[in-house]
Amino acid sequence: MPAKEDGLEAWLRYAPLPAEHVKHHPRFSQIVALSEANSSPVYTAGKEIQSGLSKILRQKVDVTNTLPEAAQIPASAIVVGTVDTFPSAAPAIEKIKEGVSSLKEDGFWLGARKDGNNGPAHVLIIGQNERGALYGAFEFLMLLAKDEPCPETYTSSPSAPIRWVNQWDNLDGTIERGYAGPSVFFKDGAVLDDLTRVAQYARLMASVRLNGIIVNNVNSHCNLLSPTNLKGLGRIADAMRPWGVRIGVALYFDTPIELGGLSTSDPLDANVVAFWNDITTQLYEDVPDMLGYLIKANSEGQPGPLTYGRTLADGANLFARALKPHGDGIVMYRAFVYNHHLDESNWKNDRANAAVEFFDGLDDVFEDNVLVQIKYGPIDFQIREPPSPLLAHLRRTQVIIEFQVAQEYLGQQSHLVYLPPLWRTILDFDLRIDGQQTLVRDVVSGERFNWKRSGYAAVVNVGNDSTWLGSHLAMSNLYAYGCYCWDPTSDERDVIQDWTRLTLSHHPTVIDTVTQLSMESWPTYENYSGNLGIQTLCDIVKTCHYGPSPAAMDGNGWGQWTRADAYAIGMDRTTATGTGYSGQYPSEVAKIFENPETTPDELLLWFHHVPYTRRLKSGKTVIQHFYDAHYDGAQDAQTFPVRWEALRGLIDDQRFKHTLFRLTYQAGHALVWRDSICNFYLAKCGIPDEHHRVGSYKWRVKAQDMQLSGYKVVSITPFEAAFGGHAIITESNNAPGTATWAVTYPVGVYNIAVNYYDHLGGTSRYQLFLGSEGSSEKRLIGNWAGDLGKHLLHDFSDLRDGHSATRIYFKGVEVHEGDVLTIVGTPDGDELAPVNYVSFLPVGIID
Ligand code: GCU
Repeated sequence: MPAKEDGLEAWLRYAPLPAEHVKHHPRFSQIVALSEANSSPVYTAGKEIQSGLSKILRQKVDVTNTLPEAAQIPASAIVVGTVDTFPSAAPAIEKIKEGVSSLKEDGFWLGARKDGNNGPAHVLIIGQNERGALYGAFEFLMLLAKDEPCPETYTSSPSAPIRWVNQWDNLDGTIERGYAGPSVFFKDGAVLDDLTRVAQYARLMASVRLNGIIVNNVNSHCNLLSPTNLKGLGRIADAMRPWGVRIGVALYFDTPIELGGLSTSDPLDANVVAFWNDITTQLYEDVPDMLGYLIKANSEGQPGPLTYGRTLADGANLFARALKPHGDGIVMYRAFVYNHHLDESNWKNDRANAAVEFFDGLDDVFEDNVLVQIKYGPIDFQIREPPSPLLAHLRRTQVIIEFQVAQEYLGQQSHLVYLPPLWRTILDFDLRIDGQQTLVRDVVSGERFNWKRSGYAAVVNVGNDSTWLGSHLAMSNLYAYGCYCWDPTSDERDVIQDWTRLTLSHHPTVIDTVTQLSMESWPTYENYSGNLGIQTLCDIVKTCHYGPSPAAMDGNGWGQWTRADAYAIGMDRTTATGTGYSGQYPSEVAKIFENPETTPDELLLWFHHVPYTRRLKSGKTVIQHFYDAHYDGAQDAQTFPVRWEALRGLIDDQRFKHTLFRLTYQAGHALVWRDSICNFYLAKCGIPDEHHRVGSYKWRVKAQDMQLSGYKVVSITPFEAAFGGHAIITESNNAPGTATWAVTYPVGVYNIAVNYYDHLGGTSRYQLFLGSEGSSEKRLIGNWAGDLGKHLLHDFSDLRDGHSATRIYFKGVEVHEGDVLTIVGTPDGDELAPVNYVSFLPVGIID
């Protein structure tokens, strides 16, 4: 059995190769890292190679920082340096000049050369700059860890210079949309003293060639810029610099008023300009290589230039000018500007239109160090969106596309969703700008409009849990994000396979299982959460963006509307009769989306308001597709934990069990999703499921129908978050309740599932027994606590609803003649041991 692992090393664990494989790799004599400055990524590269060799090949090799004699590469050495520090006269480098000269910023050349025909090999790693050298070192180590030979010549350059991470960390240590514990950067209003995890994070980032990070929440706070915190930011930058990671910060627009004591934050006011110039100068003293400023303004209640009657460009240029004297700092101005009090009664209103409406006409007026940061879709990290049309509107203003590795709206790391297939729907999309092929990835790389600085940002939100993201499997998304920034044409299967080899095991069963589950995970999640382009049908009103609540999409000003009524569903975004959104795309694309016949089914309800009875290209009606997709998705999710079982004993028990717990939870919550969505729409339109599944659950017993003592029946809101619309809760919070039911199912073996609610405010305890009536010999089937928050590391809800609804399984339970089921629920605090129903599932039945 492999030794326990907690995930901290992620894909950089450098598992030892089996002895018989080690002998196929050279024995190295020394490592030469051509820099003596320990803040240099080249120096870091030397140390990292040393550590990797000792773990993967069990070779102890010394690191030196100079070549013994100019131009001579010692036999069997690994030499890492930059184009500038490598002795250009070295015979070895003479031969590789061509490869090296074509490198782009941050690129590297890597090659293993034989010293003579049968002589030992030396390895050269030459970065275009210091970061490139470190990336080459990681490439070398990852090849070794995958047990692959080092190529003779390998050149690699990034698709785009900007490959950044955004953290939404607050100064108090919480993380907005963070699902893995508190911040590794901040606590109690200040930067943490111990930044060990920050350096470890930078190491992970560097290994997948991510070169920058915004360390605090876009919903920023003026105290970020207090004198103590400026010093703290300096320490963060120092911790990340040896890994080639530069930091930037998100600013709060009204800082001049709230920190500076000024009467205004008007971007054209001379005092405000002076305030920002001054703060910027101070920041550069602590962070001399600062990336720049991320700005969320006039968005979701944040102040901004529009608050002061100025344009968005006035706001962006204020910061751009403050940065200019200090180097290459940029302003990342977020395009996420919209009115969240939109009037739903006006069918022409559309939040998706906002970015283009706000930014059109500004292309020529931004300073050249302003980049517009655009979320991949026009709404907000939904399960399926078309690419933001703003990507087709800016020609001179360079852009950063914003993705999310944090799975807000996508199961919050408690559901497995491998994201690259989703990202590819955006990156590979052809916008047809000016009638020419224009893939989104070619816009983002800068190739299409000859931009020098553009690229990628992703909201990652690691926390201080040892798994970083709260789930081991979710880390494949962070790894993949780096891969896609570097090469957006990467194959998603190759990426997950490489990640699995590095993170879990080389065993073919492990690789195949993880690859298959990952590749199925996004379509599965889409099937049970919201399909045909209707968005993720989760609760957006309670703001946790997690469990199902389709009604919450409508009836508010947030503009994530579905416009579902008794007959039809979807947003009419056509120019002919709708909001005009489709017309924001270049004409060839607009034409496709304007017509429901040519709109792909997966985006039909994004663009069109259609009857539930409309036939899709598949021949199914919209409503039947909803039912079928939700049943298919939930059924697929049931297979995930079962298939994961194949890894028992092939990987360490700690990560095996941790993941099994999540996949089992997901399987249960997928059924909550399925039932909520299907019952909601059945109630809405009254059209039954052709296969008679929705509303008919023959293997379930409602808790409200059991004999209750110390328990009472309550209704659940929304109704569809409970089978039967009701649940039972204990009558008080200090005495247990009992529910009993004489089993009417035939004697046999069942998988028993209990659906209950696990919400904030207490940790109820449950016991489940079977046994004949009156007998004192009851068999204990299950004994558990409502403590999901502790395991899943995020707080779903303080209510009994679609977030907190969950299921626990007891497999292979024998039911005897005359058995009575007993549930004993012990409340705690505000959580009154709530139970919804119990299923007796004959083997093979899912319900
Ligand atoms: C979403 C998210 C917020 C976040 C916002 C943003 O709306 O739910 O938490 O602040 O996006 O990207 O600014």
